[in-house]
Amino acid sequence: MTGPTVRIAQLSDLHFGRHLPAVAEALLDSLREVAPTMIAICGDLTQRARAGEFRAARDFLDRLPAPALVVPGNHDLPGWRLWSRFTRPWRRWRRHIGTDPHGAVTCTADGVLAVGVNTARQWGLHPDWSRGRINTRQLAGILAEFDRAGPTDLRVVIAHHPFLLTPAGLRRGLVGRSGLALRRLHRRADLLLGGHIHLAYSDVVDGMVVAQSGTAISDRLKGEPNSYNVIDIVGDELTVETRHFDGTAFTATTRHRYRRQDRHDWQVG
Ligand SMILES: [Fe+2]
Ligand SMILES: [Fe+2]
Repeated sequence: MTGPTVRIAQLSDLHFGRHLPAVAEALLDSLREVAPTMIAICGDLTQRARAGEFRAARDFLDRLPAPALVVPGNHDLPGWRLWSRFTRPWRRWRRHIGTDPHGAVTCTADGVLAVGVNTARQWGLHPDWSRGRINTRQLAGILAEFDRAGPTDLRVVIAHHPFLLTPAGLRRGLVGRSGLALRRLHRRADLLLGGHIHLAYSDVVDGMVVAQSGTAISDRLKGEPNSYNVIDIVGDELTVETRHFDGTAFTATTRHRYRRQDRHDWQVG
């Protein structure tokens, strides 16, 4: 089957507070040139959820050249300010970013229906509270939104925590309940976008393309330069192109191709 042409710019882990201003300007230049249909921002907008960091993030969002769908990451919670973390964890997010962190946020553009979910959690039954989770209510919300999609619309899930890890990121952990999520989303979703690991990669999992983007503009590098992804869907082909920062500008470095076998069923190639 053939669908419309869609271009998604995928950014994550901006970490305002640890951001590099020159890289942020280069990213905005690159996004204007790329002219995406929509921009997916996969969480960790701030470093410590400080008000000044959220204000800087807000200023950046206001300069984006396309509609953006933004979800929180674990760094957008008050870290060890435990009183705030438990009593009003998303107060600054709501004030500065303006979306409901608990609701499914959607972005409909020509040929795409994207749903964002908040996988960051205030606490967990493990010592690493940076880990995230997706729950059955969120999965039901995603599927309800997808029921509203047009027959050829690309269906996209935008989260912070990953649905796929490479060996370099194994200790960080998949999003909690990822197995259940993959089963529910199988043949219902086309593309799962995430961040958190600060590494860029993509592959097919259970017939869905999973794409991870690196840290777009922060100095919290994990062995590779700042990057973001440009995802093109033209007919039955989907391309994930990673653009790395080369010291001056974001330039295309790697490109992975995927092909639709059937509705919401993709393979490498
Ligand atoms: Fe991050
Ligand atoms: Fe994170």
